[in-house]
Amino acid sequence: MNSVKIAPSLLAADFGNLQRDVEMVNNSGAHWHHIDVMDGVFVPNISYGMPVVQAIAKHATKPLDVHLMIVDPDRYISTFAELGADILTVHYEACPHLHRTLQKIKSEGMKAGVAINPHTPVSVLSSIIQDVDLVCLMSVNPGYGGQKFIPHTFEKLRELKAMIVKAESGTLIEIDGGVGTGNAAELVEAGADVLVAGSSVFRAEDPVQAIAALNGLVKA
Ligand code: DX5
Ligand code: ZN
Repeated sequence: MNSVKIAPSLLAADFGNLQRDVEMVNNSGAHWHHIDVMDGVFVPNISYGMPVVQAIAKHATKPLDVHLMIVDPDRYISTFAELGADILTVHYEACPHLHRTLQKIKSEGMKAGVAINPHTPVSVLSSIIQDVDLVCLMSVNPGYGGQKFIPHTFEKLRELKAMIVKAESGTLIEIDGGVGTGNAAELVEAGADVLVAGSSVFRAEDPVQAIAALNGLVKA
C-alpha cells in the first residue's frame, strides 16, 4: 500500500505558468508527472504536442508518465523516448498490433503502458498482460479533464487486479479520470497502484496540500 503513486495530470495546469506548475509537482509529494497528449482524432480534443512535452521535460525532476490519446502511436515512439518519457502509454483501441507496439516502446528503453476506454472490457488484455508494465484504466471518457468518475471502474479494477495476480506479471494499475480525495482510498483498496489527479490537484486552493492529502489517504 505504501508504494501507491500520485501522478498529477498537467492537463489541468495553467499553461501560461507551466514551469511554475511543473516545479510545484517537483516540490510536492507526487511521484510522477502525468502528460496527456491528444490528437483531435482518437479523442475529440487537442491538448499539446512535442514542443510542450519538451518544455515540461526540461523542468520536471520526476518520471514522465506520457499518456498518448492518438491514432497510430507507433509513429512517435522514438520521438517520445528522445523527449525523455519514462512510461509511454498507448490506447488498446488505437493499436491493431499491440504486442509489436509494446515491444517497440520497451526497445526504446521506456516502460510500456496500455490504456483502455470505459467501454473496453478488461478481458481483452488477458493474452498480453505479461508484456504490459502498466494498465491505465480510464475512469472517464478520454479527451477532457474535470469529468465525473464512472463507478463501473471499480468492477473493472477488481477484475484486472485478479488477472495480474494470476499472471504474476507485476503490472501496475493506474486510474485516470475523476480521481480525488473522495475515491482515492477505495481505489487503492480495490487494487490501484497509481492515481492520476488533474483537476482535484490543480483546481485546489493549495495543490501541494491536495497532493499531500491524497498521499495521506492512500498510505493509511
Ligand atoms: C483525460 C486525461 C486525464 C485527465 C484527468 O482524457 O487522460 O489524465 O487529465 O483529469 P481529471 O483528474 O480532472 O479527471
Ligand atoms: Zn491521462
